[in-house]
Amino acid sequence: MKKKIYVTRQIPEAGIKMLKARKDFDVKVSPYDSVLSAREIVKDAKGCDALLCLLTDRIDGKILDGIGKQLKIVANYAVGFNNINLEDAKKRGVMVTNTPGKLISKSVAEHTFALMMGLAKRMVEADKFMRTGKYKGWGPLLLLGSDVHDKTLGIVGLGNIGTEVVHRAVNGFGMRVIYTDLKRNREFEKKYKAKYATLPELLKNSDFVTLHVPLLKATHHLMGAKQFKMMKKSAFLINTSRGPVVDEGALVKALKAKELAGVGLDVYECEPKLGCTVFDRNFLRNAQNVIITPHIASASFETRSEMSEIAARNIIAALSGKKPPNLV
Ligand code: DGY
Repeated sequence: MKKKIYVTRQIPEAGIKMLKARKDFDVKVSPYDSVLSAREIVKDAKGCDALLCLLTDRIDGKILDGIGKQLKIVANYAVGFNNINLEDAKKRGVMVTNTPGKLISKSVAEHTFALMMGLAKRMVEADKFMRTGKYKGWGPLLLLGSDVHDKTLGIVGLGNIGTEVVHRAVNGFGMRVIYTDLKRNREFEKKYKAKYATLPELLKNSDFVTLHVPLLKATHHLMGAKQFKMMKKSAFLINTSRGPVVDEGALVKALKAKELAGVGLDVYECEPKLGCTVFDRNFLRNAQNVIITPHIASASFETRSEMSEIAARNIIAALSGKKPPNLV
């Protein structure tokens, strides 16, 4: 009997092709380019051996039970896997995998830099200025921003993405680096002349603070009212990790009180909503020192294709009785 695979949304073809090339697989992809409800997932995926899902699908015990006992693997199409209840999966003997590849860390690091540069050079404001016909001639004080070179970058979380950001910061911009992580990495410190610091030390001394931690209980609201007060008033915050790592209500208050200079966000606490309240949404929408992008840090053709292949490889391994390469 063919093994059934259900994919909850259309993803780049590369991985789907790999799965479809297998004669022993029956692959069904949701025809909709939208998020399915829990009920729709169960209805469509019932009886499948592998579920390829996205970070927008909340996978818990109820869904796993609905799909059935034959389910072997939930292959998440993302590096982050906070959308999956790992306990529930473990209890049911279902493997969970993610998609860390060679390209994704680089793509996210590039997006982190795009937000940093955008804030420092006031790109969004400047673009709007031109488009609305406000430019009447060069001026020595017009839209002055900050430099990035020789500034101090604070990296919160030194995984693959954090390291790629540092590589660009040091080699491309001559930035100084401070980092905080659960573990010290002396080899890294030597290579990039980076300094290890506690989070408060890092916040006090950084001109740019960028978050690269997974969303866990311990990192939920890692950046809150207390932490914003520790930042330099001239510093910028960038978040390309997960929205709830930042207390967005506290962030808005801190921006209003000018406790930091600006923020670049790719992820949101109440995603896909911008701001958990109407007040926060309006503030973030209108503030000039806020750059907001819709969770696209990894959105390059190359990376999203690679993620598709990685998810497929995980499924192929699991359904062939092997250990998937990216078990979490
Ligand atoms: C991830 O992989 O976790 C990103 O947030 C989406 O690509």
